[in-house]
Amino acid sequence: MNHRARTTEARIPGEGAKSIAWWKEAHRLQLALCDELEAIADSLPVNIVNQDCLFTARSLGRLIRDVHAYEEQTLFPALRRIFPESPEFGAAVERLSFEHLTDECYAEEIAEKLFYVGSGGRDVNMEALGYMLRGFFEALRRHVAFERDHFSSAVQTLQTAAEWRAPPAPR
Ligand SMILES: [Fe+2]
Repeated sequence: MNHRARTTEARIPGEGAKSIAWWKEAHRLQLALCDELEAIADSLPVNIVNQDCLFTARSLGRLIRDVHAYEEQTLFPALRRIFPESPEFGAAVERLSFEHLTDECYAEEIAEKLFYVGSGGRDVNMEALGYMLRGFFEALRRHVAFERDHFSSAVQTLQTAAEWRAPPAPR
């Protein structure tokens, strides 16, 4: 296993670790995942490392689910309570939530394909797989950049607010 594949091994802190550190770690892990997916895309069709595919497939779904659950159930509701009057902020949250949904669907599909390829399966359309991987990690990089650009100062504010420690709002 190479060093790239280990980057998503670390678990994102769960409940009780609600902080800027968590936010930064979540972004770091997502960008590390993008790098891993890019390396796999570059390795297609003849330089595939099965173990990298298997490891990334295993970490992909879990990482995306953990990050989204935390953002949707804790972070975004807390930010909405802090900035209830901002239409731009509301629109940004809506956009990100929509992207989460589509990313989860693609993540599941990609994980399935990487498991197959990582298990030795080669009878797949490698060009289509590469296209799918690139579409996913490029979109995820844009997503992370958007969150950083639009939410960093809000999260900084939240960090010191009592709201941060409030329980997740009902969905
Ligand atoms: Fe997100």
